[in-house]
Amino acid sequence: MKKRFITSVFVAIFLSGFVFAANPNPMALAKTIDNLKEAFKGESTASAKYAAYAKKAKQEGHNNIALLFEAASKSESIHANNHKAALQELGVKTDKVDPKFDVKSTKDNLQDAINGESYEVSTMYPEFLKTANDANVNIATISFNYAFQTEKKHKELYKNALNQLNNSNENSLAKQYSVCTTCGNTYDGPAPNRCGISMTPKDRFVTIK
Ligand SMILES: [Fe+2]
Ligand SMILES: [Fe+2]
Repeated sequence: MKKRFITSVFVAIFLSGFVFAANPNPMALAKTIDNLKEAFKGESTASAKYAAYAKKAKQEGHNNIALLFEAASKSESIHANNHKAALQELGVKTDKVDPKFDVKSTKDNLQDAINGESYEVSTMYPEFLKTANDANVNIATISFNYAFQTEKKHKELYKNALNQLNNSNENSLAKQYSVCTTCGNTYDGPAPNRCGISMTPKDRFVTIK
């Protein structure tokens, strides 16, 4: 881990001399590269995990909750691809991710999803955004912000789904989700004319139903 960080510092110093006009802080740039790698791994794992949670929800007959997990899985894959693209722009290759997670009951899986989204919203992305700003790496700031704004919505969607499940009121949950292919923004229902995070037009959303 330490060796990786030192390598990143060297990459950062190299990049700071050639790519950035604004002379970014090399330590913040190195940290941002490590944060992008961590976020890429986290989002890739979340995407695979939610796909498995969707399958489990279907097996248990929670079809509306399965749809939410499917939509969130698609959204997290967009975040992973954005982080990967940001790393590519910085000349950094990504390692293949081997996702590790446990599949439990749908109720437990929803709680796990709430915990994961809460960590990203309250701790991870705010820290990553601050460092990317300090480093003046705009492409990382954009990628982190797309994920940060979306995870806030995922957290609320999962909390609502768990509440409805606990109240035996799953039928009230959406039967269609719309995911923005630019930023992963997730709507429970049809897409708006333009994404509320990235302004992407409606025709570039995917529908999950
Ligand atoms: Fe999420
Ligand atoms: Fe968007």
